[in-house]
Amino acid sequence: MKKILIQLDTDPQPSVFDRVVAVDADVDQLFSYAGVTPETVEPLVHGAIFTRGGKDLAQTAIFIGGSNVSAGEALLKKVVRTFFGPMRVSVIMDSNGSNTTAAAAVLSARKHLSLAGAQAVVLAGTGPVGLRAAQLLAAEGARVRVGSRSLERAVQTCDELRRTITPAGAELAPCATATRAELEAACRGAQVVIAAGAAGVELLPADLRKSLSSLKVAIDLNAVPPAGIAGIAVFDKAVEHDGVVCYGAVGVGGLKMKIHKAALRKLFESNDQVLDTPGIYKIGESLV
Ligand SMILES: NC(=O)c1ccc[n+]([C@@H]2O[C@H](COP(=O)([O-])OP(=O)(O)OC[C@H]3O[C@@H](n4cnc5c(N)ncnc54)[C@H](OP(=O)(O)O)[C@@H]3O)[C@@H](O)[C@H]2O)c1
Repeated sequence: MKKILIQLDTDPQPSVFDRVVAVDADVDQLFSYAGVTPETVEPLVHGAIFTRGGKDLAQTAIFIGGSNVSAGEALLKKVVRTFFGPMRVSVIMDSNGSNTTAAAAVLSARKHLSLAGAQAVVLAGTGPVGLRAAQLLAAEGARVRVGSRSLERAVQTCDELRRTITPAGAELAPCATATRAELEAACRGAQVVIAAGAAGVELLPADLRKSLSSLKVAIDLNAVPPAGIAGIAVFDKAVEHDGVVCYGAVGVGGLKMKIHKAALRKLFESNDQVLDTPGIYKIGESLV
């Protein structure tokens, strides 16, 4: 039986990137739908669950993507609510690459130090990628500072993570990073820094990075110049700068692509998986 992946994209055009990865992950047929919303998705899900029966349902799966991560999350909720009993197919949500990128960043850091008890900082931890990186670091037992130019946004993000994160009791601290003094305080004592700022924005200047004597791993997810962490090149992959192991966005991107493809293949193992942040991270763990 052929493997069918149903791509539900919240953007006006389905992502070419996600389509290419689906082909590279050996999907036999890719059905792509654009502009999908919670209001319009039900018939598409019915088409997936009412056609093949029994164990053959595992040969149909759903990928939720698009540039708007909140829209993707809302769509995932509606898709899962539309399933009932055994009438379901496996589904993954990776809008804007948020889950695969965060998983790859945290797994890259984990190669170089034990995260349990480590002090970590996620700069611009309020965005979809940063929030997920903070979630995964905390789940690994790290003490996580969530940085933002706005303390209020950092507090909101920590509150959201506390509502969703497992296990309870994770150490999360919101930090303002708008001024140099705030940024210094946020990074002081950190062993891991992940910069998850918007494209083309420098978050951590080189002199401040070099002054962080406790720092062991620095990861910059921004691929657009200037770098998010000054001095890290976009292709750096476990490259040492000033005694710190550094990764740039493309350096993390190789693992991100592996996770994306492995997650798509995993979908076809059964018809009842919901792959969001923790599930995608678990797949990444099996690859490193
Ligand atoms: N390597 C890969 O494969 C890959 C895949 C996906 C994404 N990415 C990259 O990962 C990074 C994070 O993605 P995302 O979608 O989470 O990013 P995003 O939502 O565009 O931005 C993340 C955060 O950056 C901060 N920010 C925005 N504009 C800023 C500015 N002018 N100055 C300082 N801070 C600013 C904001 O935090 P506050 O307002 O709270 O400060 C925002 O919440 C991006 O650079 C993206 O391109 C890489």
